[in-house]
Amino acid sequence: MQAKKFTDLVVAGAVRGKRVFIRADLNVPLAADGTVADDTRIRASLPAIRLAREGGAALVMVTSHLGRPKEGEPKPEDTLAPVGKRLEALLGVPVRLVTQWVDGVSGNADEVLLLENCRLNIGEKKNSPELAQKIAKLADIFVHDAFGTAHRAEATTYGVFEYAPVACAGPLLVEEVEAIERVIANPPRPLIAIVAGSKVSTKLTILQNLAEKVDTLIVGGGILNTFLLAAGKPVGKSLIEPDLVGEARAVMEKLARRGAAVPLPEDVVVAPEFKADAPATVKAIDAVGPDDMILDVGPTFAEAIARRIENTSGAVVWNGPLGVFEFDAFAKGTERLARAIAASPAFTLAGGGDTIAAIEKFGIASKVSYISTGGGAFLEMLEGKQLPAIEILARRAQS
Ligand code: 3PG
Repeated sequence: MQAKKFTDLVVAGAVRGKRVFIRADLNVPLAADGTVADDTRIRASLPAIRLAREGGAALVMVTSHLGRPKEGEPKPEDTLAPVGKRLEALLGVPVRLVTQWVDGVSGNADEVLLLENCRLNIGEKKNSPELAQKIAKLADIFVHDAFGTAHRAEATTYGVFEYAPVACAGPLLVEEVEAIERVIANPPRPLIAIVAGSKVSTKLTILQNLAEKVDTLIVGGGILNTFLLAAGKPVGKSLIEPDLVGEARAVMEKLARRGAAVPLPEDVVVAPEFKADAPATVKAIDAVGPDDMILDVGPTFAEAIARRIENTSGAVVWNGPLGVFEFDAFAKGTERLARAIAASPAFTLAGGGDTIAAIEKFGIASKVSYISTGGGAFLEMLEGKQLPAIEILARRAQS
């Protein structure tokens, strides 16, 4: 990644006595009682904060958005207060929430300041230059560590890094970008991608981009149904996107021209309706009837792709469950895939909300080489887009 790195500044002693502003992504799910339901992103943000403190910063400020609040109209559910509590417990250092901070903050090196939900500031979403310029006066060093928001060009994720005296990438941002680039830019071969989910339309750009790079593209979920239709297979009343059959065919042809492939299942699991307790039947693909809905890949296909993944020493990138894994009867394909990824000696990279839920359901998190904290940001990198955060930090590294 082409950017000034915060870690290097710390090592060089350039952080000592400086005011440090960290844009993290602490946008975490909250439980009904208002406490943090999943602190993965808070934990992932700790190294930057610890580095700033260990590097001798005079003051450490951290901000993040939480949800999508209306600017200038704070509501009780918009506050970062529960995040602050968890952050304090994890860091073991007092974390003080500062509600009004754009015009100036004061504090000391014994505490960490958590600057209230930055999306409450008027002009944040639209990347107002006035707001960004004001925030850029708050510190000497600005650290972009919000990988999950790196695809947004907002005042704290983009504008402030244009005007910051020093703009650099935090350790999480660097780690995430390097893990994804390792697979996308110059992957160890063979490269296997699993792109699944309900709709081709939401993942079309990823499919098109990966079709130029991967050796094997495995599609699943509703996406698979449209590919099956494109291959002339029966799909009954499965979820399909007829308008995208041509695009699905084009993806398969693009791969075929490169000597790569989209293996399609010889068997699938079908049900008469989309319900957790609907009877699940394994059928050969050609036996799928007009009243069948395909809700998972079949065991023969799951085993074949699992073996391929287990036996590859290249790289595997996984986004999306193969079937309706929330319903146990249709979770077997995704489970077999998850176990294969866990067992594979390859560099394995996974990301996306449903994928992480599947990883948790099957308890394989510690066996995946890298799990991204990004949702949209992870997908945009797979699409081959340059994220605004990467662009501005690269530009600032030249100046
Ligand atoms: C996310 O949860 O994907 C990030 O925090 C970005 O949030 P956003 O989609 O509201 O910009």
